[in-house]
Amino acid sequence: MTYLWLKAGHVTFVIFWMAGLFMLPRFFVYHQEAEPGSAEEARWIDRERRLLRIILWPAMGVTWALGLALAFSIGAFTQPWFHAKLGLVLILSAYNVWMAGYAADLAQGRRRLEGKRLRILNEVPGIATVLIAIMVIVKPF
Ligand code: HEM
Repeated sequence: MTYLWLKAGHVTFVIFWMAGLFMLPRFFVYHQEAEPGSAEEARWIDRERRLLRIILWPAMGVTWALGLALAFSIGAFTQPWFHAKLGLVLILSAYNVWMAGYAADLAQGRRRLEGKRLRILNEVPGIATVLIAIMVIVKPF
């Protein structure tokens, strides 16, 4: 029973986290289309900060906490599919940290990447989600 409640919570916060991971790079693309120093740019800086503070950081933390609790409850630490999933989730977490850094740079007026590059980076969470779903449901190894 505890396992099922943990899993329901885990999947819910995974959805919140992934929604934020899909939104933020989109925000960056629109942000970079705004005139530097304009009121529109200020609005994007504010939206990015809120998305990180209200959705991304809390959802990432709760997803990790419930995911690790699930792993303990089913003894997943010895299973190869779980090692693969952990590797993928670490990549997603690093991506989250990188995006927070990029948002901080944008807020300082530094636009390090072109819109095209940002659009390509936007594929990272999608690809990771497909692979994670296969690991956790099919458990191919
Ligand atoms: C943050 C670290 C994470 C840890 C430690 C973790 C760990 C786990 C564990 C141990 C389970 C139970 C698997 C089972 O009962 O067979 C699980 C279930 C699940 N996880 Fe995660 N997970 C994490 C992040 C994620 C992410 C980022 C996603 C999606 C992108 C995800 C998607 C799922 C799904 C869909 C299930 C339910 C699978 C089922 O139907 O049984 N998890 N997770």
